[in-house]
Amino acid sequence: MNHWKLAPIALGIAALAAGCANHDEAATSDEAATEVSEEEIEQRAADSREAIQQFASTLQGELMAAMEEGGPTEAIQVCNEVAPEIAADISADTGWDVGRTSLKLRNPDNAPDEWERAVLEGFDAEVAAGTPADEIAPSHEVVQTDEGARFRFMAAIPTGGECLACHGAEVDSDIKHALERLYPEDEATGYEAGQVRGAFTITQEM
Ligand code: HEC
Repeated sequence: MNHWKLAPIALGIAALAAGCANHDEAATSDEAATEVSEEEIEQRAADSREAIQQFASTLQGELMAAMEEGGPTEAIQVCNEVAPEIAADISADTGWDVGRTSLKLRNPDNAPDEWERAVLEGFDAEVAAGTPADEIAPSHEVVQTDEGARFRFMAAIPTGGECLACHGAEVDSDIKHALERLYPEDEATGYEAGQVRGAFTITQEM
């Protein structure tokens, strides 16, 4: 089974790779802005983009291989087991908190916190205002918490045609049943290509 004959699919990476991250939000407070240098922020953002590209391409490879091998019902297992594993591996490698989130969840473990929810709403607003979902620039910010400053980074994940088998409006009944078994509270269907499906999200201690 050759994973790599499949054309790499963008997953918003085009926007990431183009380095068009510079209309990101500024640091939350003056305190954060004075404590952390611009260079450090840029470096953290660049490292985050790299980690997310690794996450996206590994997951995409696994997903597409499973789709080819056993169709969507097989691939559900990949998303169910492999997606959290890849996230955990990258988190272990980097020491950061790395994951995926969405406003309409399949896995409740992926629920956004307040900061993530606001960024996701911002991504949707950009699409509503006419920006293609695969051109949305990532968002980053230094956030002060009770445990200290955190660098937070999110990159939108566009919905592609290949996602609709499991996230679209008309999900095959076999797939639907497999999803219902694993995710009784699944909200992540009804998407159309071109919408934001969710985001990769990273939190770094500073
Ligand atoms: C074979 C079915 C299948 C396909 C195809 C699929 N997904 Fe998923 N998706 C899932 C499953 C299952 C989960 C839950 C994973 C978990 O438990 O963390 C999921 C979760 C997600 C999440 C995490 C947020 C959440 O709702 O829990 C995002 C983001 C996501 N998918 C995006 C996509 C995108 C973008 C595509 C197309 C490139 C895609 N998916 C294709 C089955 C699929």
